Amino acid sequence: MVPMASKPSKRKKPDKYDYQLKERFKIESEVFDRNALIDLTKLMKKKIIQNVDYPISTGKEANVFRATTPDGAFVAVKIYKIETAPFFRKESYLEADPRFQRIKHNDNDIVRAFARKEFKNLEICEKAKVNTPKPYYLLGRVLVMEFLGEGELPYPTLEMMGPIHGEKDLDSILEDIRKMYKAGLVHADLSEYNILIGQVPLLIDFGQGVITRHPNAEKFLERDISIVLKYFGRRGIKRDFAEVMKIIRG
Ligand SMILES: Nc1ncnc2c1ncn2[C@@H]1O[C@H](COP(=O)(O)OP(=O)(O)OP(=O)(O)O)[C@@H](O)[C@H]1O
Ligand SMILES: [Mg+2]
Repeated sequence: MVPMASKPSKRKKPDKYDYQLKERFKIESEVFDRNALIDLTKLMKKKIIQNVDYPISTGKEANVFRATTPDGAFVAVKIYKIETAPFFRKESYLEADPRFQRIKHNDNDIVRAFARKEFKNLEICEKAKVNTPKPYYLLGRVLVMEFLGEGELPYPTLEMMGPIHGEKDLDSILEDIRKMYKAGLVHADLSEYNILIGQVPLLIDFGQGVITRHPNAEKFLERDISIVLKYFGRRGIKRDFAEVMKIIRG
C-alpha cells in the first residue's frame, strides 16, 4: 500500500504566525492580558474613556491605569487580574458576605464579584462622605473611578510620603474609619499602602471591604485600626488602641 501523505494539521499555523502571536502575547502580558484589552476597548466604544494614558500601578491583584474621558477629565481604571481569583477564594471575603453568596465559583466570576464589591463599597463611602475616589462605572472586572492626583500625576501613598500633617492625618483617617463603620462598612485591608496623601489622606482599594454583618467584620476593624496606629506610633504619633476603638464603635 502506498503510504498517504500525512494530513497537515488544521491547528498548525505557519512559523511566522506563531512568532507574531508569541510576541503579541509577550507584549500584552507585561501590562494587559487579552481580556483587559477587550474591556478597555469596550469602555472606549461606550465613550466612558477616550484614551488610556499610562499604567499607574501594575500589581499582583490588579493593574491601575490613568485614562482620559471624552470631556478631557482624568479617571483611574482598575482592572482586576484573573490570576488573583485563587487568593480571593482562599480569603473567603466573598463567601461570608451576605451580598455575594449567590455568585458562581469560577475564577472569572470571583474576580468580577470583587470588582463589583469594590464598586459598591465605594458607593457606600461616597454617601457617607468618606475620603475615597468616587465610583463612576463598572464593567465586568473593570472599575472606573475618580483619579486622585495633582496635575498629571497620582498622589503618593502614605507609605511613600509619610504622614505630612502628623496628628491631623491620623485624625482624618480615624474619622473616615468611624464614618464607614457607622455606614455599615469595614475596609479590611487598610495600611499605609492603601492610603493616598492628597490635601487629606484618601482611602483606596476597597475590594476586600466587608459590611459590618460579616462574621469577621469586628476582627477586620481591629486589624485595620491596629495597623494604622502602629504605623503612626512608629513615627511618634501615639494613640491608645482601646480608646480609639471605643470612639469608632460609638
Ligand atoms: N483612584 C485612584 N487614583 C489614583 N491612583 C490610584 C487610584 N486607585 C489606585 N491608584 C494607584 O494604584 C495603586 C494600586 O491600587 P489598589 O491599591 O487599589 O490596587 P491593589 O489591589 O492593591 O493592587 P495590587 O495589590 O495588585 O498592587 C495604588 O497604590 C495607587 O498608587
Ligand atoms: Mg492596594
